[in-house]
Amino acid sequence: MRTVVVGASSGLGRCIGVGLARRGGHVALLARRRERLDDAAKDAGPGTLVVECDVTDAASCRAAIDEAAAGLGGIDALVYTPGIGPLKKLVDTDAETWRSVFDTNVTGAALVTAAAVPHLDESGGCAVYLSSVSGSVTPPWPGLGAYAVSKAALDKMVDAWRGEHPGIGFTRVVVGDCAGGEGDAMTGFPMGWDLDLMAEVHPIWVSRNYLSGTLMDVEHLVAMVHAVLDRGATLSVPSITVAPRPVSP
Ligand SMILES: NC(=O)c1ccc[n+]([C@@H]2O[C@H](COP(=O)([O-])OP(=O)(O)OC[C@H]3O[C@@H](n4cnc5c(N)ncnc54)[C@H](OP(=O)(O)O)[C@@H]3O)[C@@H](O)[C@H]2O)c1
Repeated sequence: MRTVVVGASSGLGRCIGVGLARRGGHVALLARRRERLDDAAKDAGPGTLVVECDVTDAASCRAAIDEAAAGLGGIDALVYTPGIGPLKKLVDTDAETWRSVFDTNVTGAALVTAAAVPHLDESGGCAVYLSSVSGSVTPPWPGLGAYAVSKAALDKMVDAWRGEHPGIGFTRVVVGDCAGGEGDAMTGFPMGWDLDLMAEVHPIWVSRNYLSGTLMDVEHLVAMVHAVLDRGATLSVPSITVAPRPVSP
C-alpha cells in the first residue's frame, strides 16, 4: 500500500510510519526535520521515502504531496498526525497561539488533504487523522483548551471531507494516553510546557478522571491504523477510539 505519513519525524507519527513500512507498505515519511526523517527511514527499511513538508505552508504541502505521489507512483493512504498543544489557560491564549494551533492541527490537515485528494480519488484510497480524547470523549482539559477546540474542529473537518468525497475512506482515530517509542520516537508533545502550570492543572485532570492512569503501548495504535487502512477498500470506518483501559482504583 502506497502510504504518506505526515508528522513522521517523532512520536506517534514516526511509530506509525515505521510500523506500516515494516508491515510491507511503501511509505513516504513527511515532516520538517530532515535528519529525524532520515533516521526514521533507516528504521523503516529500504524503499522508504523522505520528503520535507511544513503543513503550515500551502505551497510546501502541495510540493511534498506531489513529490511523495511521484516517488510512490500514486497514493493509496494518507495518515495525518501533526498536532501541537501549548499548555496555557484560555485567558492567556493569545491570537498567535490560537493561529499556530489551528494552522498545524486543522488547516494543515485540510491543505495536505486537498493536495492528496486527486490521488486518493484515483486509487479509491483512505485518509486517517489522529485526534484526541480531549476533543470529543472528555470535556476539554484545563490548560489545553485551544488544543481540545482544534481537535473537535479536526473531527468535524474529517466529516466534511467525507461528505464531499464519498469515494475516499475518511477516518478519525481518537487517541488516549499513549507512549511514543524511545529516543527520537518519543513524543515531543509536552516539550516546553510550563512546569508550574502543569503542577496546577495535572491534579485537576486526575480528579476529573481524564487520565486513564496508564499509557497505551504505541504498537496498539499502529496495529489499529494498519487495520483501518488494510480494510479501507471495503469498510467505511468513520471513527475509532484507541485508548488504554483505565486502571481500576
Ligand atoms: N502522545 C499522546 O499521548 C497523544 C494522545 C492523543 C492524541 N495525540 C495526537 O497524536 C499526534 C502526534 O502526537 P505526538 O505525541 O506523537 O507528538 P510529537 O512527538 O510532537 O510529533 C508531532 C509530529 O508532527 C510534526 N509536525 C509538527 N508541526 C509540523 C509542521 N508545521 N509541519 C509538518 N510536520 C509538523 C513533527 O515534525 P517536525 O517538527 O519535524 O515538523 C512531528 O513529527 C498529535 O496530533 C496529537 O494531538 C497524541
